[in-house]
Amino acid sequence: MKFSRSLASVVALYAAAVSTKATPSVSSSSSTATSNSKQVDVIAFDNLGFSGTYRNVESFSNIYDDDCSCVLSTDTVSFSGPNAPLNEAVSVHFRGPLQLNSFAFYTSPDFVHGASNSSAWERLAFFEASSGTAENVTFLTAAGKNSTCLGRALTFADSDGLSAADSATVLAEGTVLNSNDEFVIFSNLTCDASGANNNCGVYREGIPAYQGFDGTVKMFLFEFTMPEATSGSKDSVANWNMPAIWLLNARIPRTAQYSLNANCSCWRSGCGEFDIFEVMNSTESTHLYSTVHDYQGTDNIESGLAAYGHMLRDTTGVMRGGVAFDANGKAIVFMSNSTEFNSSISASDLSGWIKQAGAQVTDNLSSVAPASSSSTKKSSGSSGLINTENALSALVMSLFSMAFSALF
Ligand SMILES: *[C@@H]1O[C@H](CO)[C@@H](O)[C@H](O)[C@H]1NC(C)=O
Ligand SMILES: *[C@@H]1O[C@H](CO)[C@@H](O)[C@H](O)[C@H]1NC(C)=O
Ligand SMILES: *[C@@H]1O[C@H](CO)[C@@H](O)[C@H](O)[C@H]1NC(C)=O
Ligand SMILES: *[C@@H]1O[C@H](CO)[C@@H](O)[C@H](O)[C@H]1NC(C)=O
Ligand SMILES: *[C@@H]1O[C@H](CO)[C@@H](O)[C@H](O)[C@H]1NC(C)=O
Ligand SMILES: *[C@@H]1O[C@H](CO)[C@@H](O)[C@H](O)[C@H]1NC(C)=O
Ligand SMILES: *[C@@H]1O[C@H](CO)[C@@H](O)[C@H](O)[C@H]1NC(C)=O
Ligand SMILES: *[C@@H]1O[C@H](CO)[C@@H](O)[C@H](O)[C@H]1NC(C)=O
Ligand SMILES: *[C@@H]1O[C@H](CO)[C@@H](O)[C@H](O)[C@H]1NC(C)=O
Repeated sequence: MKFSRSLASVVALYAAAVSTKATPSVSSSSSTATSNSKQVDVIAFDNLGFSGTYRNVESFSNIYDDDCSCVLSTDTVSFSGPNAPLNEAVSVHFRGPLQLNSFAFYTSPDFVHGASNSSAWERLAFFEASSGTAENVTFLTAAGKNSTCLGRALTFADSDGLSAADSATVLAEGTVLNSNDEFVIFSNLTCDASGANNNCGVYREGIPAYQGFDGTVKMFLFEFTMPEATSGSKDSVANWNMPAIWLLNARIPRTAQYSLNANCSCWRSGCGEFDIFEVMNSTESTHLYSTVHDYQGTDNIESGLAAYGHMLRDTTGVMRGGVAFDANGKAIVFMSNSTEFNSSISASDLSGWIKQAGAQVTDNLSSVAPASSSSTKKSSGSSGLINTENALSALVMSLFSMAFSALF
């Protein structure tokens, strides 16, 4: 999508305030948090997962009219345990400039980082552009009808990743997404309200509704490029030259990913986002950050908690890496040329890739959400703008500790 200059700044403002792909552009906490950011190849989050609640969308009304609105359920969804709420099914999101060569999703019954007795990872979904392989993946994109408060509807993505298609279509080899263009990968399991397997809940009518990738212990691997933007400019295109790969609770895009109304998805109430490789702004266009956006250890979901480290965006080479969430609530994001996409990956192979990758930064998350988060969540949707004071106090007050380590 291309925006006019004025529209781009409006979009950028609202993106920071309300959107799902939150960019903490006006938060003072983010600049404090990253002033010591060092370049690494591995970013680990320890103690990921906490006990909390979020709220799902219950209904939509008049979605193509000016009085379009959404109602969140008064019943909260409770979650707890390792990686929660990111243990729920997630969708996988890509923003250009980016070319996706390979994607794979794995699970393991008991993988623990560093433990030599963990079972192997088994691949449950796989996309390889060069061979046209597409197993258990569905490419969707927001190319459908625009709703006043839900934004554009998801459709099947055509082979360019961006146009609407009538049925599931495999992304073509060599497809380069431009700045701000996005597609999403879901599994090939459809949402079936009558099925025993239904984990979808309420979703926007008329979309191709698919389930995300489920499980507490899971891993996502990618081979991709993030070339410099060749079209548009910072002034004409939102998120110009800011590629990203991230996970959302799959319920979010099935209702509204970029709604201006916080009641139109479970994002604001904390159902979960994990940014794996994300350029935060076009000033630091070669730095890829990892961020958790839920209420663990912070009451500022816009800023979330970013690790004090970033990876290098290689604008000319091919990058390989991913994220592995283990059974103890340790998530490791890594960039390693050793990464392979075999149908089975042993625990020791994965450990080897991470060890060989290089320097590591570890971020130990607080076990709890700060006490003030419940009030923030109650006011969900009533105030869209970031409160910088809150962001700062959240940073100062959160039981957020940090350890630098070159060891795995
Ligand atoms: C860009 O993002 C980084 C990481 O969040 C931050 O430290 C930096 O202050 C941002 N720069 C600008 C110009 O916003
Ligand atoms: C691996 O070893 C640890 C420590 O001895 C044990 O707690 C864990 O249950 C073992 N895991 C498996 C999958 O056998
Ligand atoms: C989903 O993908 C799996 C693995 O490729 C395949 O066996 C299965 O037939 C697919 N199911 C559908 C409904 O496309
Ligand atoms: C969708 O509708 C909203 C609200 O009317 C509007 O702000 C936005 O620009 C539209 N988006 C597109 C892509 O047309
Ligand atoms: C496809 O992925 C889903 C999502 O996690 C999983 O439940 C399912 O078992 C996978 N299908 C196959 C054939 O592996
Ligand atoms: C990884 O390999 C690619 C080529 O496949 C190369 O462009 C890149 O520089 C390598 N990165 C590292 C860190 O060695
Ligand atoms: C993984 O697959 C590659 C080819 O893609 C092969 O060279 C390699 O030996 C495989 N590794 C294992 C551990 O099976
Ligand atoms: C990480 O934080 C948790 C909870 O705050 C604490 O129990 C644990 O000891 C910390 N771990 C390390 C390695 O600092
Ligand atoms: C969201 O729902 C709450 C009630 O839960 C309501 O007070 C608020 O006005 C709604 N916000 C919007 C933007 O519709």
